[in-house]
Amino acid sequence: MWTVQYDEFGAPEVLHLGEAETPSTPAGQIRVRVRAAGVSPVDGALRSGRTPMSAQLVLPHIPGVDAAGVVDEVGAGVDGVAVGDEVFGLVDIAKLGGASAEFALLPMWARKPAAMTWPQAGAAGTSVETATRALDLLDLKPGMTLLVDGAAGGVGSVVVQLAAARGVSVVGTARPGNHDFVARLGATPVAYGPGLPDRIARLVPTRVDRALDVAGAGSLAELVGLTGDPGAVVTLADFGASEHGVRLTMGAIAGEPDGRDGLEAAAELFEQGRFEVPVEAVFPFAAAADAHAALEGGSRRGKLVLGDEL
Ligand SMILES: NC(=O)c1ccc[n+]([C@@H]2O[C@H](COP(=O)([O-])OP(=O)(O)OC[C@H]3O[C@@H](n4cnc5c(N)ncnc54)[C@H](OP(=O)(O)O)[C@@H]3O)[C@@H](O)[C@H]2O)c1
Repeated sequence: MWTVQYDEFGAPEVLHLGEAETPSTPAGQIRVRVRAAGVSPVDGALRSGRTPMSAQLVLPHIPGVDAAGVVDEVGAGVDGVAVGDEVFGLVDIAKLGGASAEFALLPMWARKPAAMTWPQAGAAGTSVETATRALDLLDLKPGMTLLVDGAAGGVGSVVVQLAAARGVSVVGTARPGNHDFVARLGATPVAYGPGLPDRIARLVPTRVDRALDVAGAGSLAELVGLTGDPGAVVTLADFGASEHGVRLTMGAIAGEPDGRDGLEAAAELFEQGRFEVPVEAVFPFAAAADAHAALEGGSRRGKLVLGDEL
């Protein structure tokens, strides 16, 4: 099969097209012929070699943890999905990749709504799973106010919508140029950075009930101050969380329950017109290096995707 892969750690240019054995399908998984694959911050960190997790990779490595495609083979013990079905999902996170190739194995998936484009579907898996897991941990109730720090990115843009769908009032931080985007997703936008508590106090007359740190930009002390309770704050990206008494969630890779139920639920919300999958840009698979370079550019409006159509 064709692959996007790298044979050494380094800058985005180490990515190139290659060949690998088509994987056979283990029990409990499905194999898809890939139509689109998300590009996530973890893919860039692994490729660069700057995260300790890079040491777990066997090179050459096929990056990408999200894929959407057409089911090509169904593993033993799998019910409710058939060859030819269109699905989106996540690879086995312990493998830290495998999505950006002709075929990918998915242990976690949901049916792709007919109106969802392939790039949207390729972008959805990790963002929806992570958002669902984080929102479940926050034990949100309708009417609560949730502050999302980092609301415009791949995960944050999904968190905002799924929280709003739970009847929660959402305030989301973003750079000013992204405020219209965050507002369209259903949150009250506010600038991130110094002075956040004062800006929030002007926007939210009562206390913020819960806060989710998506960005890992060092705001945990402020988020704890705003909620008044470290137990009301969860982070996805701040490895100093325990110093603040805050929970860092890493999902299945840390042996935690995953948010797989959220995939089917998000597909249903999409069909009801209550959820979209924001895609910032789509790159051909052959231009994976350009996608990784864009990833390192910082500002986001949703997700970067490898695929061939918008
Ligand atoms: N723990 C887990 O299970 C898990 C799962 C998935 C992802 N993650 C991690 O979660 C993080 C976000 O992932 P992502 O895919 O959403 O990344 P992304 O698409 O690159 O988005 C990052 C967002 O962070 C915002 N940001 C930048 N500086 C900020 C600051 N100082 N304060 C607040 N927000 C700031 C940016 O907002 P603007 O564009 O408005 O500047 C951008 O939209 C990454 O570190 C990723 O590795 C963790």
